[in-house]
Amino acid sequence: MAVSVSAGDSEIIEVETNLSEDLANYVNTKTNTAKKTVAVQKSGTAGKMLYILVGVSFGLMCVLQVTLNISLRLAHSNFLEEQIKWLETSYNNLTEEKKQLQISYNNLTKERDKFTELEWRKFNSSLYYISNEYKTWEDSRRDCLKRGADLAVINSEEEQVFISQLNTKPWIGLTDKDSEGTWKWVDGTPLTTAFWFTEEPNDGAVNGEDCVSLYYHTESALKNWNDLACNNTELMWICEIVNG
Ligand SMILES: *[C@@H]1O[C@H](CO)[C@@H](O)[C@H](O)[C@H]1NC(C)=O
Ligand SMILES: *[C@@H]1O[C@H](CO)[C@@H](O)[C@H](O)[C@H]1NC(C)=O
Ligand SMILES: *[C@@H]1O[C@H](CO)[C@@H](O)[C@H](O)[C@H]1NC(C)=O
Ligand SMILES: *[C@@H]1O[C@H](CO)[C@@H](O)[C@H](O)[C@H]1NC(C)=O
Repeated sequence: MAVSVSAGDSEIIEVETNLSEDLANYVNTKTNTAKKTVAVQKSGTAGKMLYILVGVSFGLMCVLQVTLNISLRLAHSNFLEEQIKWLETSYNNLTEEKKQLQISYNNLTKERDKFTELEWRKFNSSLYYISNEYKTWEDSRRDCLKRGADLAVINSEEEQVFISQLNTKPWIGLTDKDSEGTWKWVDGTPLTTAFWFTEEPNDGAVNGEDCVSLYYHTESALKNWNDLACNNTELMWICEIVNG
């Protein structure tokens, strides 16, 4: 500030002018400083907010990351659990299947043994069982049925010859017990080709003879049938499984 010390109005005015100029400058400077301060303060707030925003974002990202990690871990462990469950089921299924196969195998082995043991014989498409006991015709038939078979039904010369070679005096599945003189096979078919022995059937016993057996060692294997009393207990029997 210029201060001139002299007497006179003009000088005083000059001093005053200078003073007001200085005052104006001072006010200006102050105002600017205040403005700057405000600006600086304003920019400080924005920075803080940005800082907070970044912080919050970072925090959110961390939370997201953790959530994602946990989710993945859970998903992965769920997937593993599912896989383990599937493998367990597979294993149990296979074990069960193995058990079933073992049972089937044992069943079949038993069946095969039963057939070979008890001398089932194959001819054409049938299996034949020759008894080693003696029973009535009815009891013989019952035994065959129990074996999943029936008394033999003879459909051809070849079968007649085959059966003739098997045993002494066996019962076969032929009877006229339902209607005298009307011979019927156990499978329900009527008799068409017969191989009766000489002068048979004769229904010779007191109470009749309604069941058929084969004589042993006749001259011809094509002439050996004989009717006998069905309750005769001195005969063996032959069972047949058709298509066995
Ligand atoms: C196990 O067996 C069940 C029933 O037979 C079947 O539905 C399932 O698909 C099987 N599972 C596997 C894994 O083999
Ligand atoms: C095995 O045989 C038994 C009795 O004979 C029967 O109950 C079962 O069903 C059979 N199992 C198979 C798999 O053939
Ligand atoms: C063999 O079996 C078939 C069917 O049962 C029959 O048609 C055929 O006459 C039989 N052949 C002999 C030689 O017994
Ligand atoms: C067969 O039955 C008749 C009566 O129906 C009887 O007289 C006879 O003694 C019986 N024969 C045998 C071997 O049981």
